[in-house]
Amino acid sequence: MTKRPSLPHGVAVVGAGMSKFGSFPEKSSRDLFVEAYLEMLKSIDKGFDPEAIDSIYAGNYSSDLFEGQGHTAPLIAEAAGLTPRPAVRVEDACASGGVAFRQGVIAVASGMFDAVLVTGYEKMTNLPTSQVTDALATAGDTLFEIPAGFTFPGFYAAIATAYMHKYGMTPEHLMKVTLKNHENGALNPKAQFNVTIPGWMKGRVEAAIKKGKPVPTWQTVWDFLHDDAANPMIAWPLRLFDCSPVTDGAAAVLLVPAERAHEYTDSPIYLTGTGLASDVALHSRADLTTLSAAKNAAHTAYEMAGVGPQDIRIAEVHDCFTIAEVVASEDLGFFAPGEGYKMADEGVTSRLGPKPINTSGGLKAKGHPVGASGVAQIYEVWKQMRGEAGERQVPGDVPLALTHNVGATGTTCVVNIFERR
Ligand code: COA
Repeated sequence: MTKRPSLPHGVAVVGAGMSKFGSFPEKSSRDLFVEAYLEMLKSIDKGFDPEAIDSIYAGNYSSDLFEGQGHTAPLIAEAAGLTPRPAVRVEDACASGGVAFRQGVIAVASGMFDAVLVTGYEKMTNLPTSQVTDALATAGDTLFEIPAGFTFPGFYAAIATAYMHKYGMTPEHLMKVTLKNHENGALNPKAQFNVTIPGWMKGRVEAAIKKGKPVPTWQTVWDFLHDDAANPMIAWPLRLFDCSPVTDGAAAVLLVPAERAHEYTDSPIYLTGTGLASDVALHSRADLTTLSAAKNAAHTAYEMAGVGPQDIRIAEVHDCFTIAEVVASEDLGFFAPGEGYKMADEGVTSRLGPKPINTSGGLKAKGHPVGASGVAQIYEVWKQMRGEAGERQVPGDVPLALTHNVGATGTTCVVNIFERR
């Protein structure tokens, strides 16, 4: 039996910032961090002296492989002018940001620190896709999975195939997730792909006309998404538009004890539940259609927060591939097993639907700088809960929100729950 975790002291988020996501050849991950950090400081309504920051938790998957730079946390402290504060790098594959956040929460909840900076950052586009794929593959099990020929699109293709076999989902259901997330991304000025699928098609047609090349004859989004030239197969059944892209980006938030939150802002958001779980690698699992780490992390977070899936107004989930969003929506208890794939189809998870998922555009359209993604999810719920999400703001209040951040194939999952009081 493990101890049931609880928060000895309340924790609030009082500031949040995010760099633009995309491909920035001229910028290092440190530059991107500074962009996010400065926006975060500016967002603290009543002002904040950065000298008060006690400690830094820095989520980063692999600057070592992507930028040839290890040991990045003290360099982040230096970039923020915060040396000699303690600065800790947290690595949990694509969940590095969400886990760094949780470590920051634990530090404040313990009473040890009064102001903690949490950041996540990754600069991936220095390398060609083949080398990015190799770098990401080191998050898999290199004794069993990688020698069998798996890469990340392959892992999630295996999950998709198992799910299709068990529940009768088709590739077109996954395309509905793509369409939804691009619709949301088009409303997010910081998204890497700030465009809907119809907008993308129009751009391609215009580019072809301009270059005097054959003009595509797509009539509908389905023609485009089934066109092997426009949307090539990456790992069956996953095509290009089922995949998150290779991205540069950073995000940052400031954590303080709940009872001090109003010194900094009239609109804090409170962390009320956090769960983190591990799982065996893919080849050892009995069922590929669910991530037990996500279920376990969600269970812990819901229990700690004293809420259930039905109470959550919006969620940012880890859609590194479209199938991952479907599985997440079931693992989090929003929908029954085998029902998740119908929900994007029926508009339930759209921005204006009853259970909006990935209003930011998700990893698919917003982009997925792996170590940054978990913190960028928190940036989105911060914006939505404060009513500051602009064009993509969901209607009505957002009293409860959840973030779900997965490492590798679900060998790690962290779930965080936020409340607006
Ligand atoms: N969705 C839609 N379009 C994409 C895209 C994506 N995910 N990735 C790239 N593109 C577009 C580019 O914008 C570019 O368009 P353009 O020709 O109009 O400029 C075109 O596709 C080619 O881009 P490129 O970067 O050369 O693509 P690629 O074929 O080298 O890489 C993937 C595509 C899908 C293989 C790559 O993005 C990938 O590996 N994604 C998964 C990353 C991953 O595994 N993350 C961790 C998850 S746990």
